[in-house]
Amino acid sequence: MIDIIDLNKTFNNKVEAVKDFSLKVEKGEVISLIGPSGSGKSTVLRCIAGLETPDKGKILINGQAINFRNEKLARKQRTIMGFVFQHFNLFSNMTVLKNLTVAPVNVQGKSEQEAEELAMKYLKRVGLEDKADEFPSKLSGGQQQRVAIARALCMNPEIMLFDEPTSALDPEMIKEVLNVIRDLVEDGMTMIIVSHEMNFAREVSDRIAFLENGKMLEIGTPDYIFNQTENQRVKDFLDKVL
Ligand SMILES: Nc1ncnc2c1ncn2[C@@H]1O[C@H](COP(=O)(O)OP(=O)(O)OP(=O)(O)O)[C@@H](O)[C@H]1O
Ligand SMILES: [Mg+2]
Repeated sequence: MIDIIDLNKTFNNKVEAVKDFSLKVEKGEVISLIGPSGSGKSTVLRCIAGLETPDKGKILINGQAINFRNEKLARKQRTIMGFVFQHFNLFSNMTVLKNLTVAPVNVQGKSEQEAEELAMKYLKRVGLEDKADEFPSKLSGGQQQRVAIARALCMNPEIMLFDEPTSALDPEMIKEVLNVIRDLVEDGMTMIIVSHEMNFAREVSDRIAFLENGKMLEIGTPDYIFNQTENQRVKDFLDKVL
């Protein structure tokens, strides 16, 4: 579904944020990216999302390379992806419902009614149908993040990308957001997740990739990464964070 080939990204001609990163994500697969701070996890996701342009490498979506030089075309190619980042980035001047309907109406040309029905379906799914008319500032961080997930789902993505969706949340809210993501996993959604929640990554991932200094040092099943790898860097990292 997504095939990332030899991705490279250097910042300011010196920081090699991502080096020769390759990853093939099959339909229905859940991949977690783990690794120390600054290892390049977000940069990989940002390149996939189109927030950064790689210096080298290709990203194929269903066999077709994203055309980095044609912004309009690239945006169209990326419509199969939904993104949820650490900070919820909801529109503060719009109600929850409006946050969910604005893109389906303006980008996909849906009618208001159709978009609202869809929005209510996904708000229900994340347990927030009673918050449709609230403004985001009235919601807790965990609720805002669940709205952000519902908003992404309203665009009917085939793959969801999460960059530390719970790291800005208080502990008691982490669980409610992870539960929503777990639900999507059970539904068979394809996902790439960057997370510091190691137990969650272990539970939901088909494969886990470990990054350090921009390089993927290991990739394998949770059992392989947590129990079998001989890679000392991976073991040291897991010893520290678990
Ligand atoms: N816009 C930027 N300009 C300059 N350097 C950047 C930029 N974005 C990232 N970097 C650098 O690239 C490297 C990789 O950063 P990245 O944010 O991808 O790491 P990360 O694995 O997501 O870290 P964290 O776990 O802290 O979120 C770091 O050295 C970072 O300082
Ligand atoms: Mg990051």
